[in-house]
Amino acid sequence: KRPAGAPDRNLARPVTKVGVVGAGLMASQLALLFARRLQVPVVMMDIDQERVDKGVGYVRAEVDKLLSKKRISADAANRAKALVTGSVSKQAFADADFVIEAVFEELAVKKQVFAEVEAIVSPECILATNTSSLSVTAMADGLRHPERLLGFHFFNPVAVMPLLEVVRAPQTDDAVLATAFELAKALKKTAVLVKDAPAFVVNRILLRLMGEVIAAFDEGTPPDVADSALRPMGLPMSPFTLSAMVGLPVAQHVQESLHAGFGDRFPVSGNLKKLIDNGVKTLWVPGPDGVPVIP
Ligand code: CAA
Repeated sequence: KRPAGAPDRNLARPVTKVGVVGAGLMASQLALLFARRLQVPVVMMDIDQERVDKGVGYVRAEVDKLLSKKRISADAANRAKALVTGSVSKQAFADADFVIEAVFEELAVKKQVFAEVEAIVSPECILATNTSSLSVTAMADGLRHPERLLGFHFFNPVAVMPLLEVVRAPQTDDAVLATAFELAKALKKTAVLVKDAPAFVVNRILLRLMGEVIAAFDEGTPPDVADSALRPMGLPMSPFTLSAMVGLPVAQHVQESLHAGFGDRFPVSGNLKKLIDNGVKTLWVPGPDGVPVIP
């Protein structure tokens, strides 16, 4: 059955090579997923060799983990490793037909990335953003082919989270959208078509909970108390563990986008900004015997 809002699948185009802009954690997880599920070459690109090597190293280590758990065969492991390569040049995307970015959550940075990628790829190449909260419409603005851009938003950890938010901007072409839905199926993700609204659907809802937890922290409730209080609610991960996994700066960016779009319904935590400015990575870390410790 075709997902709600998905165009005719006959419009979908084949994807034979994927480019990933960025080689950070999210980008590396995406590279591995695309290589394993599509069995096509995936090239990860970042600004220096050290970052690229780190990303490719992450992919190899994750493949080795799957192999040691006997989740994949030795052949499949070798294939996946061979399919993922790294580059410091966007020229490596010249023959890609799908390029996804997972770089810093700032509109100007992402626009610059897409302008540079567009100068290299073919006019048919699809451009996707993994942004968790920024406007896809604003990102397409100024592109030579704005109809080829869409949001393709994965959740952390990419290997296990089943959902994928597909974001249509006003100019997104039906063939681009159809390709995205076919791709989602091949990646074994459940794709939902969402409107281009601040933080889309999932993060908008998630930030209600996370935002209130952070607000309680701002008002003086210690993180471990809030964490213990929420545990009986059956969440797969406490809000604090989750904020550490996605990264406090990402949580802050989502808060800011929601605040910009919806005003006081989504207040921005001054305390969170202070912690990030001071280099704090997590609101608490598990200490001995799992007892939370405030860093
Ligand atoms: N990478 C790869 N695989 C991972 C992983 C990771 N980072 N973390 C866990 N897994 C795998 C494990 O290897 C394990 O696989 P096997 O069964 O093959 O061994 C499986 O997932 C289950 O893991 P565990 O048994 O260790 O732990 P768990 O049952 O607690 O599940 C979890 C882990 C799936 C991450 C679960 O805690 C969970 O669902 N947490 C919530 C995650 C969430 O809400 N994510 C959304 C974040 S918001 C976001 O990403 C949006 C954004 O834009 C900011």
